[in-house]
Amino acid sequence: MTSHASPLPDALRQQLRAWRRHLHQHPEISFQEHQTAAFIRAELERMPGLEVSQLTPTSVLAALRGEAGPGRTVLLRADIDALPIEEENTFEFRSQNAGAMHACGHDGHAAILMGAAQLLSEARAELSGEVRFIFQHAEETPPGGAEELVFSTPLMDGVDISLGLHLLSFYPAGVVAVRPGMFMASPDSFQLTIRGRGGHGGMPEQAVDPVAIGAQVVTNLQHVVSRAISPFEPLVVSVTQFHAGTADNIIPDTARLAATVRVFSPEMRERAPQVLERVIAGICAAHGAEYEFEYLYAYRPVVNTDWVAAELSEVARAVVGEDRVIQAGMWAAGEDFSAYLQKSPGCFFAVGSGSPQANSEWPHHHPRFTLDESALDTGVQMMVAAARYFTARDPQ
Ligand code: NI
Repeated sequence: MTSHASPLPDALRQQLRAWRRHLHQHPEISFQEHQTAAFIRAELERMPGLEVSQLTPTSVLAALRGEAGPGRTVLLRADIDALPIEEENTFEFRSQNAGAMHACGHDGHAAILMGAAQLLSEARAELSGEVRFIFQHAEETPPGGAEELVFSTPLMDGVDISLGLHLLSFYPAGVVAVRPGMFMASPDSFQLTIRGRGGHGGMPEQAVDPVAIGAQVVTNLQHVVSRAISPFEPLVVSVTQFHAGTADNIIPDTARLAATVRVFSPEMRERAPQVLERVIAGICAAHGAEYEFEYLYAYRPVVNTDWVAAELSEVARAVVGEDRVIQAGMWAAGEDFSAYLQKSPGCFFAVGSGSPQANSEWPHHHPRFTLDESALDTGVQMMVAAARYFTARDPQ
């Protein structure tokens, strides 16, 4: 295997691990990242040439102007929030905050972006254009931090390209995975209340049974997925809650259902609620029930810009070597990185963090989740190389 990027200085490699472990030990969940933001801010303020500010209470922005002349403005994003999970790891830097844990790798994302900021700030004499490092709060909880930063602050003014990465435990450490076009899903959902008419369990003819009607709804929604939608248009509908009834001899008045709906394209995102409600309305009408259908839009799907993904793949080949760059599969998780892509072209990509040696192949959001820390080095090398490459091109 050939790697073309020069290895990071030892001191920086140690620093990355120290940053990541500090953040891992002190996790804060969405919209509460006060200590996290203060820590990141203090570290960034020690680096030369960075203009550090906070556009929201728990995010941090650092802007770096290159001194080598005009070029593009490139936004690099890391998310910094933790999850409400009780950590089960036993290493010495495990979470000290009960009920909170960095179980998705955002501690690593923050450390990587701090490392990239340090290297690029030291090399600003050879850098053109501008780099904005955004340490974003609240990725895990809709409406999310990106929505606020992108649509309610000047963050995106003049940004030509947005880039972000996610460490992924299901790819081996050292691998970079890029996908043009549709990459991640919209994690939308709905709540459904079916209103029938309660009665005696032995005399169903006097009642309208919301349990039997709800059961029809659950199976028919899968019929939509398999029969009304093309197999080439991914759609996941999982009814995950079904609450009704109090006793075995009573037909209840109502049944409450909830479901997650995952789509990968803006077109399907518009179409899905209409098709789903049509089926629900038809079944309820057929059986004399009424319903309330509340559709909740979470994050937009992540659709990468084809040309940015293609050029980023070239950058990755130069950084980690041809044989360690793969095309990422579609991933049915959601990500508010999609908000940045509403305002600029860009690409969200993956850096593998799984390895048996580091015991870091646990799934994301698992209480044993952790990172192979060599992925921090790969992440920094990717961010630095991508920032240099994309800033150097003429502004559009
Ligand atoms: Ni995540």
